Amino acid sequence: MTSREIRQAFLNFFKSKGHEIVPSAPIVVKNDPTLMFTNAGMNQFKELFLGEAPIKYSRVVDTQRCLRVSGKHNDLEEVGIDTYHHTMFEMLGNWSFGDYFKKEAIAWSWELLTEVYKIDKSRLYVTVFEGDLNEGLPEDIEAYNFWKEHIDPARILKGNKKDNFWEMGETGPCGPCSEIHVDCRSDQEREMIDGGTLVNADHPQVIEIWNNVFMQFNRLKDGSLQALPAKHVDTGMGFERLVRVLQNKTSNYDTDVFQPLIQLIAVAAKVQYGENEQQDIAMRVMADHIRAISFAIADGQLPSNNKAGYVIRRILRRAVRYAYTFLNFKEPFLNTLVPSLAKQFEGVFDELYKQQDFVQKVVLEEELSFLRTLVTGIQRFENYHADQHTVNGDFAFELYDTYGFPIDLTGLMAREKGWEVDMKGFETALNKQKERSRAATTIDASDWVIVNQGEETLFVGYDSLTAKTKILKYRKVSAKGKSQYQLVLSQTPFYAEGGGQVGDRGTLIDEALNETIQIIDTKKENGLIIHFSEKLPSHLEGVFFARVDGTRRQDIQGNHSATHLLHAALKQVLGAHVNQKGSLVSDELLRFDFSHFAKVSDKELMEVEQIVNAKIRENLALVEQRNMPYDDAIAMGVTALFGEKYGDFVRVIIFDENFSKELCGGTHVLYTGNIGFFKILSEGAVAAGVRRIEAITGRRAEAFVEGQERLINELKDLLKNPNDLSIAVTNLLQENSKLKKEVEKSSMEKAQQLKQVLIEKAVDINGIQFIGERVSLSTIDAIKNLAFAIKNAINNNLFLVLAADLDGKPNLTVMLSDDLVKHGLDAGKIVRELAKEIKGGGGGQPFFATAGGKDSSGLAVAIEKAKSFVV
Ligand code: ALA
Repeated sequence: MTSREIRQAFLNFFKSKGHEIVPSAPIVVKNDPTLMFTNAGMNQFKELFLGEAPIKYSRVVDTQRCLRVSGKHNDLEEVGIDTYHHTMFEMLGNWSFGDYFKKEAIAWSWELLTEVYKIDKSRLYVTVFEGDLNEGLPEDIEAYNFWKEHIDPARILKGNKKDNFWEMGETGPCGPCSEIHVDCRSDQEREMIDGGTLVNADHPQVIEIWNNVFMQFNRLKDGSLQALPAKHVDTGMGFERLVRVLQNKTSNYDTDVFQPLIQLIAVAAKVQYGENEQQDIAMRVMADHIRAISFAIADGQLPSNNKAGYVIRRILRRAVRYAYTFLNFKEPFLNTLVPSLAKQFEGVFDELYKQQDFVQKVVLEEELSFLRTLVTGIQRFENYHADQHTVNGDFAFELYDTYGFPIDLTGLMAREKGWEVDMKGFETALNKQKERSRAATTIDASDWVIVNQGEETLFVGYDSLTAKTKILKYRKVSAKGKSQYQLVLSQTPFYAEGGGQVGDRGTLIDEALNETIQIIDTKKENGLIIHFSEKLPSHLEGVFFARVDGTRRQDIQGNHSATHLLHAALKQVLGAHVNQKGSLVSDELLRFDFSHFAKVSDKELMEVEQIVNAKIRENLALVEQRNMPYDDAIAMGVTALFGEKYGDFVRVIIFDENFSKELCGGTHVLYTGNIGFFKILSEGAVAAGVRRIEAITGRRAEAFVEGQERLINELKDLLKNPNDLSIAVTNLLQENSKLKKEVEKSSMEKAQQLKQVLIEKAVDINGIQFIGERVSLSTIDAIKNLAFAIKNAINNNLFLVLAADLDGKPNLTVMLSDDLVKHGLDAGKIVRELAKEIKGGGGGQPFFATAGGKDSSGLAVAIEKAKSFVV
């Protein structure tokens, strides 16, 4: 079977068992502070397990693109070195939400593996949870007994909490699990060593392919386990491993999932895969990493300097580094793999296929900039002096962190010089950084305190800015030393931050007690709408009146609707390739990031602005379809965003059928006329191939224009109300430059005259041409020029002292000809001595020195004093 067929067979099998096939969620996670990237198929269903969202289908099947490069599940350093870990991988999964449990899950996984995929039963082993005394968890006898119906009990192994109790993260849904392992060794090897002893022992040929988790608990912050409202099944099968088993390969990279990419790399590098271990590792790293990078970018995560963006940047750099060192790719190459990868996933994950040009461009730019950094890093290493033949841990970390050198490569470069790397020091530096980033991002949340029963918040904020409500639950959170409360309400008019739109603010009023609590922000966390406050109401069980700050909401809505108009206008003016890449909609402004490869010209910007303002004047009515089937919406030609997770039913926002139709969960004006007026403030680049426009609307746009007008009026006043301001300013500038030239000319002439006068005033004292004069020049530069001009004219035995008063600040300059310097005179020393007369100080070179002071009345004395150096 080809990998395509294998994937389809999985989906079809579970479809035949009553499962709904659903799409993969994006690989980049939003709305979950505990997770950056999707790391398991179950992530998108977390809220269903926790009972925080309604269950639409009780049986679901999919293939989920996952990334395990950060947090609890992190495989990055293994990738490429071995043959079965990946950064991005597909997880095939079937789910039961409160429907079937262990019996069916076990029976179907066995049926699929042995009857559909026809894996030799004698090569399969399964594990079940042995229980854990500390947690008070019993052995999973049920699973054991169900397995016994299919497999020889000798092949059912018991495993501990580490292997057989699956947890998503520090907190969240979890439960005992049962893994299925395949022994892919040769018959001869199998004869010699029993496969059962190699299960979970990191043997490259005895590998886990499928995990069946029986979700029963929620791990709370305090470490305790709370029973879930219902029992669920969560399974995950590593697609690339399954393909390897079914295609009879000893490495995931030998399957048709990776070989097409590896062959492209091998041809370009002019090497053969399988001939040299270092080169093979590099090819595996490249083939693996380009998948992770491409899908992350396609799902909206651009490489950057922090958080998720930095994780992606580091993966990319790891790949470039391997390519550079072991395959001699000195020019960008990874980006050229994108089209082939996109083709491979056409019809599976179309996000990449549709955006391949954009993704390729972003990767290319990253490669270019990193290759420059890399060269600097290599130079740093070449110039490094290793104490006692050891590369210091901090330096290894700097290479790793700043220059993207994977630690194994630093090790290799060190060995080439006969050095070692201080791995302990490196680990310490790495852990310190991890600790720093954890401290910066962790939010310490207490467990929820239930106040009233109820599972879901009813959101009424599309239609109303107020609601009567009760508190369902609350918790205290602290982050960066600040503590706040989070409240979940039975119904709410507060819009939770999402889709770029900021969260609402407002008040929660207890009318009985006449008490008002400020709601300072509203956010979503998985399925929950969370209201932030700085204090708790006194009577938690009371009935509250929730009220959104209406003026602020209106400003936000104007900006949000204007964002839709802007998006449509950009597509019209620049072309259909324009796709939203990020958006911020607040009460103050809107910021819109979009894919486009060139600067948007002033003319184009003006056109865009005019289109948007025309649409505002048309006063288009909002057409809102709150519950449209996703497929109907797409058929209707709506703009959907890449990297967004859409349900089967979506909300469509239309302003003019033929102009703007978007999938959107935000709040909008009822008529575009409410936006008032739209003004672009700036346009610029954010990343390779991504531009940003910032704009304002309504009263802020009005205030902006008023401000501009005021400025113009002020300028007119200053210029005595000319008929044409622009001509008046041009004339002024011309006149100014003409005058400047004249001033320059006349001061040159003056200096020339002065020079002559001074030279004539030279007196001979003991054979030295002494000139000591007060001059009326206005800048230090002019004095300096004059001094040098005199030195050029008299180059023997010159002793020049110039005194000047620069706007009340006395200044002394001493210039000596070179022969006097040779005879031991020093202008610096002299000027310091003279400066005493003007209550100041100074210095300079032996032939030229200056001093400033506070008392101009001493200038004449200073000149007299100078003579004493000659006599
Ligand atoms: N959630 C389980 C895993 O990721 C299936 O392994």
